[in-house]
Formats: sequence, C-alpha cells, structure tokens
Amino acid sequence: MFERILIATDGSKHSERAAEAGIEMAKLYGSAVTALFVVDIGKEYGPLGDLVSKVADDLIAGIRRNLQDQGEKATKKVAEIAEKSGIVVSRKIVEGYPADDIIRIAKEGKMNLIVMGGIGATGLEGFLLGSVADKVVRSSHIPVLVVRND
Ligand SMILES: Nc1ncnc2c1ncn2[C@@H]1O[C@H](COP(=O)(O)OP(=O)(O)OP(=O)(O)O)[C@@H](O)[C@H]1O
Ligand SMILES: [Mg+2]
Repeated sequence: MFERILIATDGSKHSERAAEAGIEMAKLYGSAVTALFVVDIGKEYGPLGDLVSKVADDLIAGIRRNLQDQGEKATKKVAEIAEKSGIVVSRKIVEGYPADDIIRIAKEGKMNLIVMGGIGATGLEGFLLGSVADKVVRSSHIPVLVVRND
C-alpha cells in the first residue's frame, strides 16, 4: 500500500521524530523513501529580496547557500536514520514554498504517504499545527502521517 513514502524535513527535532516514524513504516511496507527539504524562498528572503535585491545580491546568495546547507544536513540526517534499518533514502532539495512543493513532489513522485512533524523549526509547542503541516493536511489527496511529540 505504501510503496513510496515522502518524508518532509526542515531539520528540526520534530521532523526527525517524524522521520523515525516514517522509516518504521518503510520497514513494514518495504517502501522506497524520499527525504525532501524545501528552501523556503517566500519566508526567508522573499520580502528582503523585493526590497533590496539590487544592492544585496551577495547577502541573498549567502542566505540561499545557508538554506541549501541546512537542506543537505536535514536530508542526510534522515538518510542516516534510515541506514540503520537498511533502508536507502533518495534526497531532494528544492527551492520554493514548503507546503506547495511537498504536495507537488508527492504528486510527481506518485507517493502514497507523506510523513511530517506537526510542528517544525519555529516550534511553538502547544499550537495545534505549524503552518506547513496545516496546509499539507488540508490540501493533500494522499494520506499524511503527522507526528507530534511535544
Ligand atoms: N522547508 C521545509 N521543507 C520540508 N519540510 C518542511 C519544511 N518546513 C516544514 N516542514 C515539515 O513540516 C513540519 C511542520 O513544520 P511547520 O513549518 O508547519 O511548523 P513550525 O515551523 O513550527 O511553524 P511555522 O513554520 O508555521 O512558523 C516539519 O516538522 C517538517 O516535517
Ligand atoms: Mg516551519
């Protein structure tokens, strides 16, 4: 049933817990796993980019590189967790809008399940869901496993 599982990670401890649950599912179902990090262009430097794009190209490039690095780290962490269970993970880092791109890549990759944390890097514990989790749960046409441990 869950041949292909998409694990969305923002590198937070919450998404790590979610990844662990996703890997457990993958073990049970023999699934192929993809770990996805979205470099959040809207949030991290969208407004800044609009305001000062001409004078701050270097700054923006630096922020972008930093987020790409975070993406490398976050997806590698998922791959490491999976490796312990003998599961190979494909890693994907894209630039865009997290919720939209999680949904898009799940569709494009014909995923059967999305796994994610209930909250993430902002981590306002006690809030029902973070905005990315909220949007994915509302708009996904495939099952979403939302993992909370706060
Ligand atoms: N940029 C991202 N790329 C991939 N997955 C993400 C990204 N951002 C969030 N997620 C996934 O969504 C889960 C919930 O994070 P979310 O961003 O919704 O909460 P938050 O960071 O606490 O709050 P908010 O971002 O709304 O301020 C994370 O644990 C992670 O699995
Ligand atoms: Mg977030």
